[in-house]
Amino acid sequence: MNQTAIHRLLAEQDKKQISPTKSKELFKLRMAANLSIIKHLFSSLYPEDEHPGMFDKLIERLPMLYAKRPAELKALDIDRTYGRNDHWYQSEQLVGMQLYVDHFSDNLQGLIKRLPYFEELGVNFLHLMPLTTRPSGENDGGYAVNSYTEIEKRLGSKEDLRQLTKEMRKRGMYLMLDFVVNHTSDEFSWALKAKEGDLQYREYYYTYPDRSIPDQFEKTMPEVFPETSPGNFTYNQEMQRWVMTVFNKYQWDLNYANPEVFIEMISILLEKINYGVDVVRFDALAFLWKKLGTNSQNLPEAHMLISLFRLCMQVIAPGVIILAEAIVAPKDITKYFGNGILEGNECDLAYNASLMALLWNSIATKKTNLLYKSLLSVPDKPKSATWINYVRCHDDIGLGYDDQLIEELGWNAQSHRRFLLEYYCQKLHWSPAKGMMFMYNPKNGDGRITGSTASLLGLEKALDLGDAEMTSKSIDKILLVHGIILSFGGIPMIYAGDEIGTLNDYSFLQKPDKKEDTRWLNRPNQDWDTIKQLSDKKSEASDIFYRLRQLIQLRKNLPVLSDRNNLVLHHTGNPHILAYERTGRDEEGLLVLSNFDESEQVIDANWLESLGYGHDSGFKEMISDEHLKLNSGLLPIPPYTQYWIVKN
Ligand code: GLC
Repeated sequence: MNQTAIHRLLAEQDKKQISPTKSKELFKLRMAANLSIIKHLFSSLYPEDEHPGMFDKLIERLPMLYAKRPAELKALDIDRTYGRNDHWYQSEQLVGMQLYVDHFSDNLQGLIKRLPYFEELGVNFLHLMPLTTRPSGENDGGYAVNSYTEIEKRLGSKEDLRQLTKEMRKRGMYLMLDFVVNHTSDEFSWALKAKEGDLQYREYYYTYPDRSIPDQFEKTMPEVFPETSPGNFTYNQEMQRWVMTVFNKYQWDLNYANPEVFIEMISILLEKINYGVDVVRFDALAFLWKKLGTNSQNLPEAHMLISLFRLCMQVIAPGVIILAEAIVAPKDITKYFGNGILEGNECDLAYNASLMALLWNSIATKKTNLLYKSLLSVPDKPKSATWINYVRCHDDIGLGYDDQLIEELGWNAQSHRRFLLEYYCQKLHWSPAKGMMFMYNPKNGDGRITGSTASLLGLEKALDLGDAEMTSKSIDKILLVHGIILSFGGIPMIYAGDEIGTLNDYSFLQKPDKKEDTRWLNRPNQDWDTIKQLSDKKSEASDIFYRLRQLIQLRKNLPVLSDRNNLVLHHTGNPHILAYERTGRDEEGLLVLSNFDESEQVIDANWLESLGYGHDSGFKEMISDEHLKLNSGLLPIPPYTQYWIVKN
């Protein structure tokens, strides 16, 4: 980008009050700077001779979309792009929470009233699950979209959403919303037109008159929901054609080989972010491009498409960033930050699905060996990118570990996965976990796990048994894994309810449109009765809430926890301990030690000293705010305990 021209434009006045003319000039500069790469990507996917006039159509659309962006958001874009706020998403000040509005506060107006709750806990970044219209029966929790911008009535109105984002901006809070980019519902206007026989809209989806092409696809495409939606195609009676439905049978995959689809979708996206969205969560983006003979995931064309979305967004709304929801193999995740010419031009954030799954492995095995091996095998991420670190979300826990790494530890990969399923899904009488299977596939024994953090970590069973020691162990584990997501580097995303140890919600089993999908086990209503009593009653919930709140406050007081690619994993020689350092200048470093075992573990103090931490008189530990003493040259770490040790 032409920096001198930009500085000249911005020099004279406060960026927040930039005039419309200057703002337009900046838009033109961004357009000029990005045009050649946009053209390169667009014509690689859609060659001009096969799709005449489509590139011009896109380029003519962009200024129209820019004109629709509200002035207040344009000013924010300028602040985040050319001001000091350009890396706001890497700050240690950010702490996120993910929630379903209806389960949390009934509707958007209710959520506005609940904003002080987040402030009390220290949360300032919200991921709200889909808010848009959806089919009235099964709708995959709103991920089957009937529209991308119309708000589901029972959640509120467009005005309510605008009011919410305004209120959040006032309080310095950020909003993330989904962009369900891979598919629409079968009730979406394009699908309805396709069903009525409109050939233009039929081309927006992958549809086939017979099984010949679907059968070829099936040879190499895996099944996402094998139990409830086997295969990747569904027969539609009205069209008398097979439609590609990779997820559920009512979710139709969009045909991005058709450039009209891309142009429509980028227009919709840019309209959607004008509500005041700060981060767009690109849902299921690994699936965007389909090709016979491949698994149709992570294809180079999908990366080019995402980059095209991103570049167009950069031209029009450069302050808005993208999160990759790529729940794929560790080696593939970092590719969504952009490789080669796409570096810096793809996603700014990605879910750290590898860390999440590995934490659950470490809890069950009480060992950190697979965690180290796997994290060390993840390619480095670019400096400008960061992770969303999480323990639980609304989806299942997939066991996508690298088989070879499991085997290198001397374990059989298949038996190891079976052990984890049994440990978490109530098949081992000694296991404290109370989870359920998700999408168990008897053909190959594959399955995933679902359940709330607290129930998977033993709190439900402990309370059922009235076992105080087990209860306290479970609470320690809850804090241990949250301490990791708060200190690892990136935005920690707490799942609503986990801050008070919410247990599994079994009510979905009575609901016909939900009972087949065990992920609803972990989508509970927010328990406001318990929250009301947090401050005046000693309970498990208040223990978790106040300890978590203290960790959040600590995070915000440690600038070394902002993500500057300053994470170093350290091998301690003890198989139960995870040790990493957030390195900083001089005295600034932080060493995080976590004991995943049920017995006390020790670390050699000389080794800690060689890293620059502690000395004869002990260690300064931030969570307990105590000075830890050595025992015969060793630092003892109690069961399921975490230390945040600083240098002085
Ligand atoms: C994403 C969502 C998941 C949904 C799927 C299909 O993975 O997180 O809940 O089922 O996309 O939209």
